[in-house]
Amino acid sequence: MIYITRRETFSSAHRLYNPTFSDEENERIYDKCNNPNWHGHNYVLEVTVCGYPDPNTGYLIDLKELKKIIRTHIISKVDHKNLNLDVEFLKGIIPTVENLAVAFWKELEDKFTNCKLYRIKLYETENNVVEYYGEKIDLHKFV
Ligand code: NI
Repeated sequence: MIYITRRETFSSAHRLYNPTFSDEENERIYDKCNNPNWHGHNYVLEVTVCGYPDPNTGYLIDLKELKKIIRTHIISKVDHKNLNLDVEFLKGIIPTVENLAVAFWKELEDKFTNCKLYRIKLYETENNVVEYYGEKIDLHKFV
């Protein structure tokens, strides 16, 4: 089995806020990330797919194709956007780095034919990173 990874970057604004919590609870739980006028991150997204190389081409997936899939279904929808307001597939989801990884998986998992989505790795900062391998998680939606 071969694993191949494509790295992409994007910049987005967000606010961590749960509408079912009081203002005080939101402040206590999310602290600076609860800032009503948003804040931003330079995210790094790594998408890993796995499978067996095609014997004729030697490719598991053409990396141009992997890049195109990620850019079409994720980057073009989130880059320079507000993750709370602008992104249809994130509507009603608290845009934590955890929830973003799960939501990105859902957008990408059925887009591959000769290989399988293996991992979403998402850096929110240089020091904070999540990895998601597709175990079933239901994202709670508020709308
Ligand atoms: Ni943040």
